[in-house]
Order: sequence, then structure tokens, then C-alpha cells
Amino acid sequence: MEKNNLKAVVFDLDGVLTDSAKYHYQAWKMLADKLGIPFDEEYNEKLKGVSRMESLELILQNGNAQDKYTQEKKVAIATEKNEFYKQLLHQITPEDVLPGIHDFLEQLKAVCINTAVASVSHNAPFILERLELDKYFDYICDAAQVPRAKPFPDIFLSAAQNLGVDPANCIGVEDAQAGIQAINAAGMMSAGVGTESQMQEAKLILPSTAKLELGMLKEYFQLA
Ligand code: BG6
Ligand code: MG
Repeated sequence: MEKNNLKAVVFDLDGVLTDSAKYHYQAWKMLADKLGIPFDEEYNEKLKGVSRMESLELILQNGNAQDKYTQEKKVAIATEKNEFYKQLLHQITPEDVLPGIHDFLEQLKAVCINTAVASVSHNAPFILERLELDKYFDYICDAAQVPRAKPFPDIFLSAAQNLGVDPANCIGVEDAQAGIQAINAAGMMSAGVGTESQMQEAKLILPSTAKLELGMLKEYFQLA
């Protein structure tokens, strides 16, 4: 392993490449209202980076309803949420790529730094297609093939392995606490997009994706 040499950047999708978190919220809100469970944007923060079924468990917990439904019914509820979410995703266009992402991807491409997407969303390929971003990535993780979701490091390790790069030579970019924990556990350098309180465990905190810039990241990577 060459130390302090940046070879790959691994991106989360929801909240990093586009603001699909708002559609997850709308879809879960519709379901929570239907089930009579309190659910607001503040509680929604806990669901960022968390898998679909775990998200449902957290929502049910908020209404003390985790023992109210059979596993079969829970799967049906999560499926209904996903169907509604998929309808909302049709609104996404290339205009919805978050600020700075195109320029950053171009910078990485120009110097042959590898890129991957490490999203636990089963809808990631569709969203990347809607955003017309799929062509930029050397590898897109398949959520169905990853045994443990974030905060376990599995998906970031899978990205590094498939890119043929040591995790120590990678930066992971995330907007969720569970995601930052996964990056740190994978042995990558973590860049968190969000506020200081949300991104406490990130090695580097950026207020917005507009601040993603190769020169600064390389410098920071060498110092870390
Ligand atoms: C993550 C989101 O990227 O994907 C979570 O941050 C979401 O909110 C998870 O639950 C799973 O997504 P999906 O599209 O497979 O339900
Ligand atoms: Mg995210």
C-alpha cells in the first residue's frame, strides 16, 4: 500500500449526489400518517443511510408499534413505501445533481482517480440513470449483494475491493452518521457533508457538496 496517496473516491448517493432524502421522507410520511404514527423531518434524520426495513422498524418504534405487525405485514408496508417512493423518483432530472458534483467528478476523471457509488439503496441504479451520472463511475455497488448495511463497513470495503484499491487510499463521502461510521470502520478517510453536529465523527466536515474540490481533499488526505 502506498501511504497518503489518494486513489479513489467512494460516494454515497442519497444526500450526496442528489437530494433524494426528501422523497424518502415524503414516502415514509405518507405511510406513517396512514398507520397513525408520529413522524416528522427531525425524526427522519435518524433514517438517513439506514436500510429500508430498519427504517420501518425505527418509524414503528416512534409510535410504540414495533410489535403490532407480523413480519409479512411489515414487508408489505415497506413495499408500499417503495412503490410510492419510486413514483416520486420520476421527478428527478439531471438538474437535480447537487452543486459541485459534476465539476468534482470531472476533476477526478482528469487525473484518473477511481470513483464508486456505495449506496444501500436498491433504487440507486435508477436514480443514477435519471441524473445521467452513471457514466462517471468505475463501480456501482449492488445493495442486494452487501450482507450488512451501514454502519457496518461492508459496502465501502466492497467498493474498494472492486476498484482494486486499498481502503487506506480512499476517501468516502457521506451525509449520514451511519455512513460516516461505515467509512471510518472500512479504514477510509471520511468526508462528511452537513453540519458539525450531524457529522461529528467525520474526519473532514464540508457544509455543502459545492465544497468538494480535489486539491483541498488531496492536501487534507496527505495531512491525515
Ligand atoms: C439510503 C437512504 O441511501 O438508502 C435511506 O439514506 C434508505 O434513507 C436506504 O432507507 C434504502 O433505500 P431504498 O431505496 O432501497 O429503500
Ligand atoms: Mg446519504
